[in-house]
Amino acid sequence: MLWTFIGKRGCCSVCAFIIIFLIFSVYLTYFRHPPVDMLLRMNNHRFSMDSPYNVTSKSLNGRKSSQLDAQKDINVDLTAAANKETANWETFLREKNYVSIGEVFDSCDGEKRKMVGQTVIVEDKINGGVKTTTFVNFTTEHSITGGELYIDIKYNDKDLYDNHWEVCDITYYKDGIAEEEHFIDCPYPIGFHSFTRDIKILNYLPKGKYEINILVTDQIKEDMLCSRTIFFL
Ligand SMILES: *[C@@H]1O[C@H](CO)[C@@H](O)[C@H](O)[C@H]1NC(C)=O
Ligand SMILES: *[C@@H]1O[C@H](CO)[C@@H](O)[C@H](O)[C@H]1NC(C)=O
Repeated sequence: MLWTFIGKRGCCSVCAFIIIFLIFSVYLTYFRHPPVDMLLRMNNHRFSMDSPYNVTSKSLNGRKSSQLDAQKDINVDLTAAANKETANWETFLREKNYVSIGEVFDSCDGEKRKMVGQTVIVEDKINGGVKTTTFVNFTTEHSITGGELYIDIKYNDKDLYDNHWEVCDITYYKDGIAEEEHFIDCPYPIGFHSFTRDIKILNYLPKGKYEINILVTDQIKEDMLCSRTIFFL
């Protein structure tokens, strides 16, 4: 696993990804993936992330699968991008020729949310196979002293796993080395944060459709980050 590690303060979603992949590696059996170029092609179409979609602690278990979203590929028209933020990220994806598999917003509320990041799938040139990279630029309006991270994972549209944690308590093993790090250092400061995270997709995950929904709230239970990632292996 490669980390572009910008400071200790990080995106909570990274932790969630790690957990997912650990779980998968324990639970699931070996299947050989198609070659990288084919994997990238398989994921090279955009899913609509805009379907009715409310993640809350209550609705987390109750939401319907996103099968419909997956069937409803959208052709993103740059000029018609909903707003300045979305247009910026679309430009970014195009300039780098990235295959996007996920979006990150500052809230799960479809009415008012702003895009703050993108998750892309790329070839892992060092370890082989593929990895995901998440780019996030967001601003905190107050310093973060607490909150929750909710995660909900579906495999082939079936619920596979969900859980939540106190965001300041989350620790992870960076690079799989036996040294625990806090996911974010609380209080997490007010202001602009820009970060990038690489997560290796284990070569031995089973084939299929993966959907990962993550919500991070702050101490006053307001949404801070809300992301949905959908990819095929
Ligand atoms: C999402 O939340 C809004 C506002 O609370 C509500 O009006 C809407 O029906 C919800 N959508 C779903 C799919 O639950
Ligand atoms: C994210 O922030 C970085 C650092 O300020 C900036 O270089 C980059 O262009 C921003 N990306 C987008 C898509 O706004």
